[in-house]
Formats: sequence, structure tokens, C-alpha cells
Amino acid sequence: MCGIVGYCGPKAASQVLIEGLKRLEYRGYDSAGVCILKDSGFKVIRRTGKIRNLQEALGDGEAGNCGIGHTRWATHGEVTEENAHPHTDGNSEFAIVHNGIIENYQMLKDDLEHKGRVFRSSTDSEVIAHLLAEHYRDSLEQALRDIIPLLKGTYGIAAVTSREPGKIIGARNGSPLVIGIGEGEMFLASDVTAVLAYTKQVVYLNDGEMVCITSDEYRTCDVHDRIIKKQVELVEWELEAIEKQGFKSFMEKEIYEQVDSVQRACQGRINPEAATGHLGGLNMLPGELREIERIRVIAAGTSYHAGMIGCYLLEKVARIPSFAELSSEVRYKNPVIEPHSLYFAVSQSGETADTLYAMRELQRKGAKVLGLCNVIGSTIARESDGGVYLHSGPEIAVASTKAFTSQLTIFYILTLLFARMKHYSLEDGLKFIEALESVPGHLQTILDRAHQVEALAKKYAGFKDFLFLGRGINYPVALEGALKLKEISYIHAEGYSAAEIKHGPIALINEQTPSLFIVPDDHLRDKIISNMKEVKARRGKLIALAVEGDYGVADIADDTLFVPRAHELIYPFLMVVPLQLFAYYCALELGCNVDQPRNLAKSVTVE
Ligand code: M6R
Repeated sequence: MCGIVGYCGPKAASQVLIEGLKRLEYRGYDSAGVCILKDSGFKVIRRTGKIRNLQEALGDGEAGNCGIGHTRWATHGEVTEENAHPHTDGNSEFAIVHNGIIENYQMLKDDLEHKGRVFRSSTDSEVIAHLLAEHYRDSLEQALRDIIPLLKGTYGIAAVTSREPGKIIGARNGSPLVIGIGEGEMFLASDVTAVLAYTKQVVYLNDGEMVCITSDEYRTCDVHDRIIKKQVELVEWELEAIEKQGFKSFMEKEIYEQVDSVQRACQGRINPEAATGHLGGLNMLPGELREIERIRVIAAGTSYHAGMIGCYLLEKVARIPSFAELSSEVRYKNPVIEPHSLYFAVSQSGETADTLYAMRELQRKGAKVLGLCNVIGSTIARESDGGVYLHSGPEIAVASTKAFTSQLTIFYILTLLFARMKHYSLEDGLKFIEALESVPGHLQTILDRAHQVEALAKKYAGFKDFLFLGRGINYPVALEGALKLKEISYIHAEGYSAAEIKHGPIALINEQTPSLFIVPDDHLRDKIISNMKEVKARRGKLIALAVEGDYGVADIADDTLFVPRAHELIYPFLMVVPLQLFAYYCALELGCNVDQPRNLAKSVTVE
């Protein structure tokens, strides 16, 4: 959501902060600001809108080698300059940036106002700056330590004071913070992408930990000032991975990267000799895996859709009863942990609050939860009881694309692993591997024909409502196609099981509401064709996503896009990519910002 960056070192802090904020812009971007410490006092500059507005306001930069910056995604208070971070105590002595939500801010604010403090914003965050001013004696670190017990909610905080220039204090509870270690310079950020241009050496803070950085050292401790020795980790991502590299947008780049990212997700995880999968990160012995009687997936958004497909596969192929649930619902339903169950928390960012809190609730009750994350070192990855990384490289566009197909890949390998421990023969396993390994080639064919999807999008972008319909393993693909379209083009779209429309949604069908049907050549094809006919009989426009050469489908539809003929289990990969492209081209046609759609943030770290 919001992003934090802090810098202490020899460089001009304003430039480093702007550079870092640009890298963080994808996380939340309605306003931004910096605070630069100078020899005497500090200067705060904030602007609404894009980082370039802030950059223009800074001009050639403010002199000063230490500072903090923030990109805001509004939660409390509208998008205004006053509500943008950094927030100060009003006397230009204390400034803070904050990610998360201070739930008891109103009570704290009332109290501080009684003491004569004047608030300038309607945010929850401003109380932190005033509290620091009230509690400061001679150490900012101690002041932050003193106020932490007063704060209820979640936070990643970076604080500075003009009384101790050259120093940034950070604290974390529920909102990520990472220290970047450079040569003669230190960084503090909410996301490694903000520091990747300067250093690959990082230290991840855990909840309940604090840090003090100066240009040449960092000190980590807990809230009782007990020193905590942290491990320095090396970020694997290259800087180019977070640049567009000639593509028009990150989303376009990430759609095209799927040929490679699916391959990468498979690398070293398939054992052709034994015709099985190998997922070392699960931290489970074969005997333990064999005892698993049911699988549960918790996730949100696109990751939830990947989890639904994963569960379908695990149940159908590996014969393990499996069920995906929205993490936001799991947390509050007081879940029962059944014996011999295995849980997967699926999250690209590894920071989604709904999934993280649900995972903690399950763990509290004794569940074993494995993480399926893309971001290395993310909170879910670190707190889960084992897991698998997607290795898809950084996903910057808000709309998730390549992480989805990598999540699917891991579920396929997991299915293979379980199936081979049970009823799958060597031959079955080899066929399954052959099907999975054919995915990248098929995706390349689909991407080579992207112009056909573009033409279709140009024809349909003017419609206001869409239905996306699929069945079986492709039902979640319909949900994902509808999600992609609505989040980046703002066209209203609903995903349904094609069988389900007769139970209600068919009432929406008219000439103005196109239905996009996903029609693989599997055991459900003829049933789906019947569903298509029901729509056609009501004069609904029909778009079909069908298998090459299936003219039976093309004859019924108004427009058809073909995907290569393949093993029926891998169609979710082949069907989802044209839907990603369809959403992408519709958004372009409508002049939308595909990478940073309105109201959304890449990583949703509040509930
Ligand atoms: O990082 P996560 O996978 O946990 O994120 C979950 C959702 O917030 C995310 O998939 C969201 O729905 C995307 N914008 C979808 O494109």
C-alpha cells in the first residue's frame, strides 16, 4: 500500500528518496512527500498525485544527506497535501512516515489536543509525530520506544528529529521494514525495490523490532532495548527486473515474461526419472506428506483464484479433498483445524494483511501452514512453517499476471508429488510432466497472436458490463478474467460458473452485455455449448475462447479466440493469458493507467 524510504549517507538525500519513491510508486500513489534533515532543522515537501509532482516541487533538490520519504494510499483522510506524509509535530522538530493504521488514534488525538497540540491533518499517523514531541527527552530512539505501547494497530514507522540530524529510527509491527546496507550509506524502506539501485544487502525487521540507522551503522533491538543480531541477506533480484525494458508498461512486460516465469517455477522441481515433483521448501518428509488427508488454501484476489484451481487439481488428480477459502473470511470464523490437514497461504507479495492474519490464526490453533510466495523474505514467507517461492521475479503492475501462472505451476508440481505417492503410475507421472512442460511453448504461441486479442478488445471496450463464464477447472479462470478486466479498465465484469447463470445472472443478458465463454475441449465442452445457446437465445453477444479447430464453438459465437490444443488439465494457463491481454488492451483503448489503476495498491497491508 503506502511506501517508506529513508536514507543516511553522503549522497543528496532528496535524490535518493525520489528515486526510491518512484520504485515504490506501484504500492500506493495518491500523494507523496519527503523530509530532508539539514544542519538547522528540516524541510518537509509534500504533493498530491504522481512522484513527478513532488520531484518538480523539489527542483534541484534540497541540500541534506539524511531524510525520509513516503508514498501514500489514503486510508484515513482524503487525498490532500495536508494528509500526505511526512507528518510533523508542528514545530519542525519531529517528522514521521507511517504505513499501517493506528486504530486508537482518535483517543490519542483527543488527549494530545487537550494538551494543546494542534493537528493539521485528518490522518491517524499524525499522532505519532506529536507523541514523539511529548515524550522526547534526549533520545529519539527512546521516545519511540516509550510511545510504542500506546499505539494500537499496525505500523512501519520511520522517524527523524532535527535535534539528532543524521539519524533515522524505525519500528515495525505488521507493516514491513527492511534495512539496506550500502558502503558508507544506509537505507530504510518498506520494500527492497526502493533500495535495489544502491545495494543488494538487506536486513528484514520482524514485528516488535526497532532499528536506528546512521550513514555508517545500523542497530537493531526490541522494544525493551535488547540488541537483536540480524542476518544480512542478499536480494536475488537484478535492477533490470524492476524496469520496463522497452515494454510500454510493467503489466505488458509481466504478461510476456510468463513464458520464462513458468519455466523458472519448474526449474529443479521436477524429477523426470521418478516422474514426480520435488519441493524441498515444504520441509516435510515423504511419510508426513503421505499422511495428509485434506488441503486448505487461504488467499485473496488473484492468489485465491490460483488456489481454487490448485484445489480442483489436488482433488481431481491427487484425490485429496481440497478447498480454497478467502483469507479475509477465514480469520474471523474461528476455524476448526482438522487432523492431517495441510494449509497453504498463497500470496504474491507475502504481505497481504488478510492472508497473514488468517495464517497466524490458523497457526495459533495448531495448523501447519506453508507459504506460497513470490517476494523473498516477505512476512508470510518468513512466518510460515515452510513453503515454496514462485521465483517469478518482481511483479510491479498492480494487476497480478505472472505470479498467477507461477502459482498454478507450483500447484501442478504439488499435485504431481501427491499423486505419485498415491495412485499415479510412472507413466501417468510422465504424461503429467509432459503436459506441464508444454505450457511455455503454448504461451509463446498465444503471445505471438496478441494482435488478435487487441482487435477483439478494440471492438468490445465500449461495453459497460461483461460476464465471464467457465466450468470445472476453468471456472476460477473466468473469475480471474473478470477481476483483471474490472481492476484495470473499470468495466464492470462478473465471473460465474457457466452452469450457474440459469440460476440468476441470465436475467442480465441482453445485447449490451457480452458473455465471454471459456470452452476447452474437455468433458464439459458440450455442457458449455448448451450454456452458450441459452445466452444466444436471449440475444446476448457471445465471445468464445476455444481450442484451435473447434468450429462447432466458433459457429455459435459472435467472435472467437483460439488457443492451441493441449492436455485438458493445462487449459487454465492457456485460457488465462488471452484474458489478461483482453483486459490490458481494453484498458489501453479506454486510456486507463494499466500499471496503477485507480484506488488500488499492489500489496494490501491493511485489513
Ligand atoms: O500479494 P497477494 O497475492 O497476497 O495479493 C492478493 C490480492 O491483493 C491481489 O491478487 C489483487 O487481487 C491483485 N490486484 C489482482 O490482480
